[in-house]
Amino acid sequence: MKTKEEMQRTARQLISQMTLEEKTGMLHGTGLFHTQGIPRLGIPPLKMSDGPMGVRSEFENGQWKQIGLPDDYVTYLPSGTAVASTWNPDLAGKVGEVLGEEARGRGKDVILAPSVNLKRSPLCGRNFEYMSEDPYLTASLAVPLIRGIQQSDVSACVKHFALNNQETNRLEVDVKADKRAVHELYLPAFRACEKVSYSLMSAYNRIDGEYCSHNKPLLTDLLRKKWGYDGTVISDWGAVHDTTAPAEAGLDIEMSVTDNFEEYYFAQPLCAAVRAGKVSDTLLDQKLENILVLMQRLHMLGGEKRKPGCYDTLPHQQATLAAAREAVVLLKNEDRLLPLAKGAGRILVIGDNAVRAHAPGGGSAEIKALYEITPLLGIRTVLGGETDVRWVPGYAAAPAKAQDENWQADSLKDHARDETAEDRETAAQQKTLRDEAVHLAGQYDRVVLVCGLSHLQDTEGADRPDMRLPYGQDQLISEVLKANPNAVVALIGGSPMEMPWLPQAKAVLWSSYAGMEGGRALAEVLFGEVNPSGHLPETFAKNLTDYSSHSIGEFPGGKSVDYKEGIFVGYRHFDAAKIEPAFCFGHGLSYTTFAYTDLQEKLCETEQKLQLTLSCQIQNTGRRAGKETVQFYVAAPQNDRPMPVRALCGFQKLAVVPGETARAEVTVPVKCLSFYDTALGAFVAEPGEYRIFAGCSSRDLRLQGTVQLQYRHVTTE
Ligand code: BGC
Repeated sequence: MKTKEEMQRTARQLISQMTLEEKTGMLHGTGLFHTQGIPRLGIPPLKMSDGPMGVRSEFENGQWKQIGLPDDYVTYLPSGTAVASTWNPDLAGKVGEVLGEEARGRGKDVILAPSVNLKRSPLCGRNFEYMSEDPYLTASLAVPLIRGIQQSDVSACVKHFALNNQETNRLEVDVKADKRAVHELYLPAFRACEKVSYSLMSAYNRIDGEYCSHNKPLLTDLLRKKWGYDGTVISDWGAVHDTTAPAEAGLDIEMSVTDNFEEYYFAQPLCAAVRAGKVSDTLLDQKLENILVLMQRLHMLGGEKRKPGCYDTLPHQQATLAAAREAVVLLKNEDRLLPLAKGAGRILVIGDNAVRAHAPGGGSAEIKALYEITPLLGIRTVLGGETDVRWVPGYAAAPAKAQDENWQADSLKDHARDETAEDRETAAQQKTLRDEAVHLAGQYDRVVLVCGLSHLQDTEGADRPDMRLPYGQDQLISEVLKANPNAVVALIGGSPMEMPWLPQAKAVLWSSYAGMEGGRALAEVLFGEVNPSGHLPETFAKNLTDYSSHSIGEFPGGKSVDYKEGIFVGYRHFDAAKIEPAFCFGHGLSYTTFAYTDLQEKLCETEQKLQLTLSCQIQNTGRRAGKETVQFYVAAPQNDRPMPVRALCGFQKLAVVPGETARAEVTVPVKCLSFYDTALGAFVAEPGEYRIFAGCSSRDLRLQGTVQLQYRHVTTE
């Protein structure tokens, strides 16, 4: 790789030969997913594609119409939430590698992923794309994912910067949040990602009155100056509303959803602004330099050899399966009901989600999958021909939306959830379907309900109205459990759901949208071929109002939303307010058991330096090989400011066979011991006693220790 200085020199040399029109052509979309190249200077267009779960299909240049090519089917990867549920950074890296190879294989330069916004409310329509309610977990998985992508001469584009935590009024909503919460919760994942990601997407919403793409404090003062970001900033599609403000704020490329490309703010209007002296040449050239450096990082200039990538390969499918397996979370397993016996006989599978393919939905994250193994298909393939598998729908879900005209065409208009009509239409059928399923459930020994949400609820452009399962599923599950108390409940969805029937259910599994191998992975867990090792990346509350944003009535807000809950989001709130969740952050059971011993804290501290290493031993005390995610939490001294009861500060996933032991060891980032001091504009770890916990969830803490800090440590990290 050339040095940064060499790349800048090449960039400047190219810029000096460009006309104004050639320059602006590189600064805005001249198709829905690309900018203009300058052939006479050997500069190609920059080609982008969604998104986090795979490379999106090809669209007409100026129309939100899938071309319908026979050769743009791809690997459908696990969603952000599914990746986070693995708690496995190596797997996240593999997912990234697949995404990068496929993007390059499809001829793309920038893949619009990962999505790292924090899950503030369980209702956010795009939660399935996002990873966690915890910034440390998000960063720990997003960074290897980005590195994986960028191995293939493709740029990641970390999104949506920043405070884009809801879909309601997403294009306009003005987010107000105190600086401490912003720096402790909403920015750390972006901070970790910007260090590795060659590009970043500015969000739709406003912060403190200013659109993110026009926001100089955000894009210049913080991102470029304080953090030292030297990549390219691309706007979300239609997030720009003016020429000079975003130009001065630090935006490099304007993208949008309309086909009037020459009228984009960074097209003709930018040329005019430069000619009128409203935008300086220096400012313009800086943007081009950022883009040309990006292109050189991807080996796009000067006839350099570039990796060709590949897509739909067997290793890609295997990597998808490996991630999907670890994304399944065993929430409850009374009487060791799971795993189910694989033997011959018969089994009843109930639920629309057993047969629904999720790839083609969700918004811009939609995928034209090469294939998708649904749970029913997975169950049949795992069980083989000696078992009679019967499937009944149990409930009628609305059909997936037609794909010919894409919703994105008018995504800049206000969207109301348009599901109610379909809901009404299908409601009449529910009872008949439910009665059939309940009647059959009593006659089978083995019954699996595959229920949950689909991308009709978990979708871009709209938040969920409540946390309940749609289509009368709660009633279905309750009645099936009454008819057959040994029925297993498997839930699929991108976000938490209420489970009023939980006390009656002996075994409950949950998986987010886990990609094209998701159904196989679920079946392998159900029948014990795979020992579950997924953990919740977010709290599953009993009621919606248990979440802080809802208890204070600040979701989704109106024209503006005030994050008054401060740092008390997710488990930080549940722990501080002493609310018992249905399932806590980090929860996930296994078919084996692990014993925890010997917590050790190794602290190396001088006035200037702080290094804390934590470790503990685990032993597999059960009868099956399994993976355990050892989670370390820290409780900072409670001084005069509110602090979380404890916060995740490290984790490690270990594979251990029965009887064997293994040691988990993590180095705690200083930031995890600190609070953000708004007056200083820096993170501060105070001297005092820090309590350390090790366990297998945020509430199942098996070991405790303390470390004593002697000095005060200030860091801008
Ligand atoms: C989404 C982005 C996406 C872009 C391009 C927008 O609606 O917010 O995440 O990358 O469209 O499809």
